[in-house]
Amino acid sequence: MSNFLIEGGVKLRGKVNIGGFKNAALAIIPSAILCKEKCIIENVPAIEDVNVFKEILSNVGAKVVMLDETTMEIDSSAVKEISMSQFSPKNIRASYYMWGVGLGRFKKVTTPFPGGCNIGARKFDYHIKGFEALGAKVEVFGDQTISFSAEKLIGNRIYLDFASVGATINIMLAAVYAEGRTTIENAAKEPHIVDTANFLNAMGADIKGAGTDVIRINGVSELRGCTYSVIPDQIEAGTYMLAAAATKGDIIIDGIIPKHLEPITAKLEEMGMRIEEYGDSLRVFYEKELEPVNIKTLPYPGFPTDLQQPMAVLLSSLNGDSIIEESVFESRFNYVDELRKMGADIDVNDRIAKIRGKGYLTGASVNAADLRAGAALIIAGLVAKGVTEINEIHHIDRGYENIENKFMNLGARIKRVI
Ligand code: EPZ
Repeated sequence: MSNFLIEGGVKLRGKVNIGGFKNAALAIIPSAILCKEKCIIENVPAIEDVNVFKEILSNVGAKVVMLDETTMEIDSSAVKEISMSQFSPKNIRASYYMWGVGLGRFKKVTTPFPGGCNIGARKFDYHIKGFEALGAKVEVFGDQTISFSAEKLIGNRIYLDFASVGATINIMLAAVYAEGRTTIENAAKEPHIVDTANFLNAMGADIKGAGTDVIRINGVSELRGCTYSVIPDQIEAGTYMLAAAATKGDIIIDGIIPKHLEPITAKLEEMGMRIEEYGDSLRVFYEKELEPVNIKTLPYPGFPTDLQQPMAVLLSSLNGDSIIEESVFESRFNYVDELRKMGADIDVNDRIAKIRGKGYLTGASVNAADLRAGAALIIAGLVAKGVTEINEIHHIDRGYENIENKFMNLGARIKRVI
């Protein structure tokens, strides 16, 4: 298994270009199966999770061709069903979108239970509640297979107990062809909900309100092919912003939508970082000693849970105390033991982490538990005194394109050891 070797102590300098948003692409790519005509998806990130979806779509009979490194052509005309036999064992959590797509187009779908990062129970009850409200029947076989079916899908009013990203998108997908109107209340408002709705509307769906907590979907009878470009990855961009802060650097982050980064920008400015906005890029630079802050992760537009781990590294590297409350996932502190190997002083109690920053970290051999924890450990290695070895880096490759080269171009001393 390959790993990263990082020699800390370099202030990041230079420009980094941000790729397409992983979690938007992982919703939009399967959504193309709703349409029998060819779709072209631009700005697709070059990451492992996209490769997994290419395999999933090919296995169900879609023709997936990369027209260039980031442009994917999907032809779903030959797809006749979505069934268990077509699935590879290495499922990712986002494979749950095949439920909404399978129900939407074929009124029947059977898949293995999705996988994904080990960050809590990650149940599917909100997805199931939404599909049942539209008239679907759910059957679970053992603990491996789940099946949804419906004579027909009829629009309904669905209230989500939690503003679940996956459930919001999945219900939208199933409702696109449903008879009548579906209303999703307490819907998630993340930018990739809007991106997925925009893609569906570009194919001819009738969706209004995405980005607010009430989304209305009026069923249509057919969709047509389209060309659509995925929004930039605000989590990737935020990761580089936090790395610039942790290394006291000065970087330009290019190809982003500044509004999507407001939660991170606000927190970094509160800590004392300078941030200047230039259209579709930001300059993030260090001017004075940063002050620790308290963080509570929340659904958008709150502070994103996917940047909780990298923020914990920044806070651990400062002088002073801070508190992180993880309100989205019930257990997302599995990286803390690895940070402790690097000298971090963090106490975790349920969803609260108390950080006592000592102003430095020390290089060590550590393991990436999931992709965001892995990105956090890279930042820790960039800050730490000495050399850090990060193992299990296949987790990082799932969601960060070309990460070591992007950091090397910013001056980091990092290399991948195969
Ligand atoms: C999506 O996961 C993202 N994954 C996650 O990103 C992200 O952290 C999360 O949204 C929150 O923004 C993808 O888009 C592929 P949720 P998802 O449904 O859909 C509970 C990354 O690193 N819940 O908003 O699973 C769930 O357990 C990944 O890119 C239920 O209880 O997130 C969690 O505690 C990690 N029942 C909370 O809700 C359900 O039916 C939020 O989950 C669904 C979710």
